[in-house]
Amino acid sequence: MGCQYYAPTDNGADSFTVAMPRLTVGRGTLSEVGERSAKLGMRRVALFTDPQLASGPLVKIASESLTNAGIDVATFSDIRVEPDDDSVERGAAFLRQGKFDGVVSVGGGSVIDTAKAAMVLLCHGGDVIDYFAPPVGQGKPIAGPLLPHIACATTSGTGSECTSISVLRINQLNTKFVIASPYMLPDAAIVDPQCCDSLPANVVASTGFDLCCHALECYTARAYTEHAKIESPNARQYIQGANPFSEMAAREAMSIVGKYLVRGVNDVQDTEARDQLMWGATLAGIAFGNSGTHLPHAMSYGVTHLMNDIVTDGYPISSPFIPHGISVIVSAPSIFRYTAEATPKRHLQGAEFLLADAKGATPDDAGEVLSKRMIDLMKATHMPNGLSAVGFKSEHVSALATSSMRQGRAIANAPRESNVVDLENMYTNALSYW
Ligand SMILES: [Fe+2]
Repeated sequence: MGCQYYAPTDNGADSFTVAMPRLTVGRGTLSEVGERSAKLGMRRVALFTDPQLASGPLVKIASESLTNAGIDVATFSDIRVEPDDDSVERGAAFLRQGKFDGVVSVGGGSVIDTAKAAMVLLCHGGDVIDYFAPPVGQGKPIAGPLLPHIACATTSGTGSECTSISVLRINQLNTKFVIASPYMLPDAAIVDPQCCDSLPANVVASTGFDLCCHALECYTARAYTEHAKIESPNARQYIQGANPFSEMAAREAMSIVGKYLVRGVNDVQDTEARDQLMWGATLAGIAFGNSGTHLPHAMSYGVTHLMNDIVTDGYPISSPFIPHGISVIVSAPSIFRYTAEATPKRHLQGAEFLLADAKGATPDDAGEVLSKRMIDLMKATHMPNGLSAVGFKSEHVSALATSSMRQGRAIANAPRESNVVDLENMYTNALSYW
């Protein structure tokens, strides 16, 4: 593709696929959901949302729009933040009883991911765990389409409205895993920045670092040409590695984070910054949905698996709870210090997109420059100071590493190889930063 990063390799992939929903972006576009649903042939819609949004203005806008388009609507809101298999089973039961012909989800990643997975159970049966890869589940394939789905984002981080994955907690194992299938990609996504106007600062910060890491991980992931050639067009996984398309979206998303994250967190009135962050989250979602993330996300799963007795203020959920974006960012500066050695130029460019002071820096400085910029952004947005600030001590490092090693596909998408000892070292260096 005319870029050295994607140079052909022996037995490596020589093509990549880009998938995304029909995307509508702009203030006021949530009220278009009715007409868009009707166009997709929906006549009876299940509106998935969360308990906090259910009685608020956004669900009212969506609901009225659907009704005005002549569509019957029933709302399902029994979804927990960081959804689990129980949320999905309840959602699937709701779908079965209601005989719906379409789904509209209005919420953050928790809501959209629950809607996707509930439709999998409705259309293809089985239990949630069956669809996870072995040894956790049976790796049951999703054999065909789901119901038509319009995903309407209400946060500026997850990007789930534009991805074909669902991240779910399996209660029995107390840990999160990913289900991925091209059939889980929503048919349409609506990104209306008015949905983020009332988000509290801590949510904008946490989701902003999720988007920041989505973009950085895409940009620094192994090139698609270094992933094995696929056996058939339908066998291509969404974790296909960095490619020119994901790189393009990730670059813009990083620039948005560099320019607007601190402003959007610290000034609720700064609609320019918040609108930009929502656009950045969508771009980063499209980017990682077509490349996969790597170590920062893989290692966040160890954190949420083993968190214990930690309460995060401002979220309607009981302990233990660490928001997804925080579970990613607490280890990320340490991880990028490690991975920079493999692709220093890409890491240095990432730092520059985030507006780091990289004057006079050489590729040898890449890890340090990027990590310092991330730490500065964390300080400016009142993030926890590393793993120790969310309840972990050095004696937990070994268990964290062992837990995260189960995320093999994401770990293999990192630019530098790592084993359990490397993960332990990265966690140790993430205990505190300042
Ligand atoms: Fe994420």
